[in-house]
Amino acid sequence: MKDTNFDLIVLGAGPGGYVAAIRAAQLGMRVACVEKDPTLGGTCLNVGCIPSKALLDSTEHYATAQHGLAAHGIKVGALELDLPAMMARKDKVVKLGTQGIIGLFKKNKIEPVTGYGRLRSRNTVDVTNGGATRTLTGQRVLIATGSVPIQLPDLPFDGKRIISSTEALCMRAVPRRLLIIGAGAIGLELGSVWNRLGAEVLVVELLDRIVPGMDRKMAGLLQRVLQKQGMKFQLQTTARTAARAGSGLQVTLEARGSTSTEECDVLLVAVGRRPFVDGLGAREVGVAFDDRGRITVDRRYATTVPGIYAIGDVIAGPMLAHKAEEEGVAAVEMMAGQAGHVNYDAVPNVVYTWPELASVGLSEEQAQSQEIPFKVGTFPFLANARARCMNETEGMVKMLADAKTDRVLGIHILGARASDVIAEAAIAMEFGASAEDIARSAHAHPTLPEALKEAALAVHQRSINI
Ligand code: NAI
Repeated sequence: MKDTNFDLIVLGAGPGGYVAAIRAAQLGMRVACVEKDPTLGGTCLNVGCIPSKALLDSTEHYATAQHGLAAHGIKVGALELDLPAMMARKDKVVKLGTQGIIGLFKKNKIEPVTGYGRLRSRNTVDVTNGGATRTLTGQRVLIATGSVPIQLPDLPFDGKRIISSTEALCMRAVPRRLLIIGAGAIGLELGSVWNRLGAEVLVVELLDRIVPGMDRKMAGLLQRVLQKQGMKFQLQTTARTAARAGSGLQVTLEARGSTSTEECDVLLVAVGRRPFVDGLGAREVGVAFDDRGRITVDRRYATTVPGIYAIGDVIAGPMLAHKAEEEGVAAVEMMAGQAGHVNYDAVPNVVYTWPELASVGLSEEQAQSQEIPFKVGTFPFLANARARCMNETEGMVKMLADAKTDRVLGIHILGARASDVIAEAAIAMEFGASAEDIARSAHAHPTLPEALKEAALAVHQRSINI
């Protein structure tokens, strides 16, 4: 007879839920982790971060072979795309990850429970799988059920012509024309993938800029680079309706009062995600939500119902896998009487285009609106020796430091492997570094992170290499 009594029931096995489950098990709790999908890992591992990065890495190789190798003195013959092989590799990367979590659950004696979890009371969860229902009881329940793509009412997903990121990760042929609504991380990353493979990509964005939330100047630079790569943008524009036209679609676009039509084979709607709490029973047991449909929690991640906690995409804050992970760890550590903590000022954010755009801390606009006096230091990758060796000189580092204390407020990087370089920036901010601290830290030469050191020097107008 299977155990039905647990110290902690985690609902959802995405990066928030599975990491929280492991940390709770490390702290001595008996943990069950309920997952509705057949594989563990949630959106991130199955239909999000990991498959998209696998395709981004593959298509970067393809683009480099097409456009980047000649500069290195390497000539290649005619290139051929083997899309099924590229997709199969991506699927293998995902499978390795999902199997890895099964192994981690075994190692930590966590019971994975497959089925749809529904709260019956504050400590009882019914898990339905096919026709069978198993009832689990737990001292505490942690909701980590993540998010799903937002659907536009007049452009409902049909999975073939009007698609979400999930389908955009497994198209069987390169669309001739791909229209994307929304210039956020998903629109730009998946737009990059299919643009590199030969699709004509047009991105329409409601606002007057791409990647809202990121530093405006850096976003403008990224837009210019992506345009050079062939992606097209229409800002302050949205799509209203779509009608079948042959095997594709005719989409009506609206820009500041005037309408136009655009033909495409596939329409990718990437206008954000919403917390996924459908059928969870959270409202019914008394869990409170905010006006944007997110579960309300206190600083211990406790909901309004004693014993029920929530983390990740279902609560406020950026919908990022690593933010959910940190919250999961902090939540269970506090349940165990420890001092869990998430420093939201030092959560990095990356858009995995090429070059990548990465940031941590405040943008220039945020510092201005918070009326914090600041100094700015910038350094272009063109002046970085390693970037020149790599022939990857696009982009720059921008650092904001408090004008009075010199404490670093924000770091923004557009450049090759910015996703890796930003780690140093996040650590520096976590430790409360000043620009001077970074400027005086030895950086291996020649490396891309030297651009960070130079931007820190630039805060005090003493860059060496420019
Ligand atoms: P997003 O919120 O990042 O971007 C959506 C974009 O669509 C915004 O620029 C918004 O202004 C625009 N938009 C909204 N309604 C529109 C309309 N009707 N017409 C035209 N434009 C419209 O959302 P996205 O890209 O769908 O990603 C969803 C979530 O997943 C985000 O929270 C994102 O941070 C996360 N994510 C993170 C990734 C990363 O960290 N690299 C990768 C992919 C997703």
